[in-house]
Amino acid sequence: MPKIVNSWNDFDPLKRVIVGRADNSCIPPEEPATSEKVPIDSPMRGMWGPRPVATVEAANAQLENYVTVLEGLGIQVDRPTPLQWNAPVITPDFRTDSMMTQMPPRDILLTIGNEIIASANSFRCRYFEYLAYWPLMREYFENDPEFKWSQAPRPRLTDKSYKHNYYDERISLEERLVRTANKDFVTTEYEPMWDAADVMRLGKDLFIQHGLTTNRTAMEWFKRYYPDLRVHAVNFPGDPYPIHIDATFVPLRPGLIINNPHRRLPEEQRKIFEANDWQIIDAAMPAHEEPPPLCYSSVWLSMNCLVIDHKTVIVEASEVHQAEQMDKLGMNVIPVPFRDVYAFGGGLHCGTADVYREGTCEDFFPNQVEDPTRV
Ligand code: GLY
Repeated sequence: MPKIVNSWNDFDPLKRVIVGRADNSCIPPEEPATSEKVPIDSPMRGMWGPRPVATVEAANAQLENYVTVLEGLGIQVDRPTPLQWNAPVITPDFRTDSMMTQMPPRDILLTIGNEIIASANSFRCRYFEYLAYWPLMREYFENDPEFKWSQAPRPRLTDKSYKHNYYDERISLEERLVRTANKDFVTTEYEPMWDAADVMRLGKDLFIQHGLTTNRTAMEWFKRYYPDLRVHAVNFPGDPYPIHIDATFVPLRPGLIINNPHRRLPEEQRKIFEANDWQIIDAAMPAHEEPPPLCYSSVWLSMNCLVIDHKTVIVEASEVHQAEQMDKLGMNVIPVPFRDVYAFGGGLHCGTADVYREGTCEDFFPNQVEDPTRV
């Protein structure tokens, strides 16, 4: 039987991928974790319910086009099965009145070698999002005898998992930046909580962003769950809303990472990269000054690209500066329009999850130095 699942990083040749869908997507009501995610001046504050049908259709049209482009590159594309997200989540521990989407598979599924593990999200509205991917997981399990179908420990998400009164409309941007620098986030360390998009995979090393959606307890859990891998905790003090690493720190090929210039990796956290001749360069500036309407993410989705192989990258079609930089870095750039999808949960990388990339678990950091990021 064929091997279906294998991926150790974000740049080896991509052969099979999951692309999300916008169907039935909702804006969730506020809850302890999400009130932090929505910027205070966002028109989404206080708004929740199904997203407008015209926006769903526009997003799905761009997602279909993305699928066509990927298939044209010889990549097999799988799609999730939409659920009716406009329904409450009720567990013994909490209730929230709506779920969210199956657009960003990257937040939910983490592929490490022959294993795909469903995450332990801190948002109550995302508690059942993994179900949209379960038909695919079942198919992979049936057809790939080596596939490990896994689920992280389900967090209970009681009030013990969140800081009370953390959110306050009067918090200034400066105060938010101080909190990020101090690693003071809305989640507590009561139980492991993590979004898969906070994990950057580089073979034997996992670089995990400590932020609003992933806590330190999760990193301790990763360290014990993957004893053969090295886990690093990274933190980007310039980000007032640190959620997901893939609009901040993006590897393009072995030895090269683009870093958001507003969210530079602090000097002391660079040692492991410097000791192994990795170059960290500033990403190009975004082409837009504002994200599209009803969007959770920032303009830095400009760097949320999908690397197809060490020489080929898909960049959002209007992000001309990012495309030009990639070109200068020797990458062949394939432009794909995706801004109509952004509001549904992110960019070209967020909108996918790896199933199969060629390659094995490489050690990109053989020179081990004193490393303050190491968990
Ligand atoms: N969550 C990533 C960004 O908006 O920049």
